[in-house]
Amino acid sequence: MKIRVLIADDEQTFRETFSRVLMEEGFEVTEACDGLQAIDAIRKDPYDVVILDIQMPGADGIKVLRETMSLRPDTRVIMVTAFGTVEMAVEAIKLGASEYVMKPIIFDDVILKIQQQWRYRQLQQENTELKTQLDGQFNIDSIIGEAQSMKHVFETIYKVSGTKSNVLVTGESGTGKEMVARAIHTTSPASSSRFIAINCGAIPEGLIESELFGHLKGSFTGAHVDKKGLFQAAENGTLFLDEIGHMPLSCQVKLLRAVEEREIWPVGSTQPIEINLRLIAATNKRLLEEIKEERFREDLYYRLNVVGIHLPPLRERREDIPKLIHFFMTKYNSEMGKECVHINEDAMQVLINYEWRGNIRELQNVIERAIIFAEGDTIKVSDIGIFNAAAIKNDNDEYDLHNAMRNYERQYIIHVLDKCDGNKSLAAKSLGVGLSSLYRKIDELEINGNRKVTNLA
Ligand SMILES: Nc1ncnc2c1ncn2[C@@H]1O[C@H](COP(=O)(O)OP(=O)(O)OP(=O)(O)O)[C@@H](O)[C@H]1O
Ligand SMILES: [Mg+2]
Repeated sequence: MKIRVLIADDEQTFRETFSRVLMEEGFEVTEACDGLQAIDAIRKDPYDVVILDIQMPGADGIKVLRETMSLRPDTRVIMVTAFGTVEMAVEAIKLGASEYVMKPIIFDDVILKIQQQWRYRQLQQENTELKTQLDGQFNIDSIIGEAQSMKHVFETIYKVSGTKSNVLVTGESGTGKEMVARAIHTTSPASSSRFIAINCGAIPEGLIESELFGHLKGSFTGAHVDKKGLFQAAENGTLFLDEIGHMPLSCQVKLLRAVEEREIWPVGSTQPIEINLRLIAATNKRLLEEIKEERFREDLYYRLNVVGIHLPPLRERREDIPKLIHFFMTKYNSEMGKECVHINEDAMQVLINYEWRGNIRELQNVIERAIIFAEGDTIKVSDIGIFNAAAIKNDNDEYDLHNAMRNYERQYIIHVLDKCDGNKSLAAKSLGVGLSSLYRKIDELEINGNRKVTNLA
């Protein structure tokens, strides 16, 4: 890919010579002989770097610069200035030019500068792409859920995102607590500041205080330098306190003080530091029970739970399972470069009925695994690896043995049929029954002999 450069200068000899030198170096060059031509060119095409003479007829360099910054703000502009126009060059930097060079121009220097500016632009673009990807990932739109309980979750996210109130997110493991926390941050006015997550259960008790609030050099053995804590790092943004239920009581007291006073005391410091950020805490524990057992401070609970969001377990919103399956299928197909875009109806039924103790994270893992193992373009029961009695849920007579056995038999036959790609003679042989018995069972258990697949929309 060639670096695209626009040279705007009214001095013909300079322009043509410089343009030739740049082309010999492998750049793609366009020339403009005055300001108006330059603006025209920039309007038509994007350039990586624009070399702009300050004094030009038509529109001067400053005017072209203003236009460039409003039309294509990520263009890197190098101003070319002669003796009497240095002050204008300084003005140009304030307006968004990247740098300036003095006439007479040393070609090698400018070539180096163009390359630096181009690299800078590349990095900036990569950063923007990464940020968009990340924002997309944690965007409220990427949280899937149409169940009534999820609608309530979305409403609360929207309402709370415009405020600075602390939020407590509760729910079983894998229900999407961190995803919700990030979505609140991304949709809030603080989204340009940082979102910092800390797992309160994973840090040794002795280190939590210094991690959160920072410390001064020499305040304890091993504190060789001053260190800022996460509260300061997340200034103006969001601090996500994951697994808050695992925070030791000694640290809960200090956290409470920080939340109440809106200031922190770095370890070893005699001066508090003011803080301004939103706290989002999450836990899969029942904090009210923890309070009863005196393992969690009630006052801290109320400070954190200004707004509460509870995420329902997946088994209580089974209607969302097909959408989630399709979402993860698309994700893993694209990541693995596969085209496994169908799932057969039996596999779908098993997934809808499964207990999902690990919630969405477990479903995500099952689909990832299925895409790895599926041969061809369809996920079958044999690909999903959760063939067991727990997968067979029976809403009406949950403990009825006859029903359970019937369901088990049905699932098992489906499983074997899938393994044999629907070939009934082969399946009958594997099952150790005659072909006619298999046909009878298929009838009796209402198994679809020519099983259908669900298309990935
Ligand atoms: N509603 C959803 N739509 C799409 N993906 C989701 C949804 N909820 C969760 N996920 C995905 O499931 C995985 C688990 O989510 P997350 O880490 O937010 O859960 P968690 O509640 O914090 O779990 P844990 O308690 O185990 O830390 C993540 O990969 C996340 O992207
Ligand atoms: Mg989590």
